[in-house]
Amino acid sequence: MPTPKGYSRTQIRLHWIVAGLIALQFLLSDFIGEAWEKIEHGGQVAFSPLVAAHVFGGGLILLLVLWRLVLRLMRGAPPPPAEEPPALQQAAHVAHWAFYGLMILLPVSGAVAWFGGVELAAEGHEALTSAMVLLVAVHVAAAFYHQLILRTGIMSRMKHPEN
Ligand code: HEM
Ligand code: HEM
Repeated sequence: MPTPKGYSRTQIRLHWIVAGLIALQFLLSDFIGEAWEKIEHGGQVAFSPLVAAHVFGGGLILLLVLWRLVLRLMRGAPPPPAEEPPALQQAAHVAHWAFYGLMILLPVSGAVAWFGGVELAAEGHEALTSAMVLLVAVHVAAAFYHQLILRTGIMSRMKHPEN
């Protein structure tokens, strides 16, 4: 995989747009959660724009993440900061790929649950949302650790594009 000096403008925009969309998915999850419970108990649900927003938002995330994945594989990512301890470099590598896995599995499991009526997929979807919360917490803590303790200026890599 190539190793550019920094992330591209598109990679940076996609990172923040997808992060925002994921936050919205969490904010809009109660409505689809309630609809799902009704369906589980044999009830009918009327069309709701807030439920549709969760389905559409998740689909959009999947498309943007596949685009991101292609960019990441073709263009690569900058090497880890030299000051970063090797164990942390490894952890960041694993965490970033775990994010890609979660960002693909979340919409897929949601769609299998919603369109296929598969209970197990809904349970998986819920478990994956907890994993996402945990990973985001670690990711944000790591970003601040870099910024304030290691002083690698990592935040600027996700702000200023470099080719
Ligand atoms: C749901 C929210 C988020 C997800 C899924 C996410 C995912 C990712 C991924 C996969 C990367 C690796 C680069 C890439 O392939 O694009 C990355 C890098 C980065 N993220 Fe996030 N991120 C999220 C939120 C945040 C937040 C809130 C911050 C700031 C506090 C942040 C700061 C960074 C920084 C600074 C990098 C660059 C790391 C480096 O240069 O190696 N991210 N993020
Ligand atoms: C990255 C994309 C997605 C995120 C972050 C996300 C997030 C969430 C969250 C936080 C919940 C509430 C879980 C709980 O009750 O604790 C939820 C529930 C649900 N979501 Fe999603 N979702 C995404 C994509 C989708 C898609 C594309 C669909 C359907 C096409 C979907 C269908 C559902 C369903 C049916 C539920 C209720 C059942 C359950 O709790 O698992 N989701 N989602």
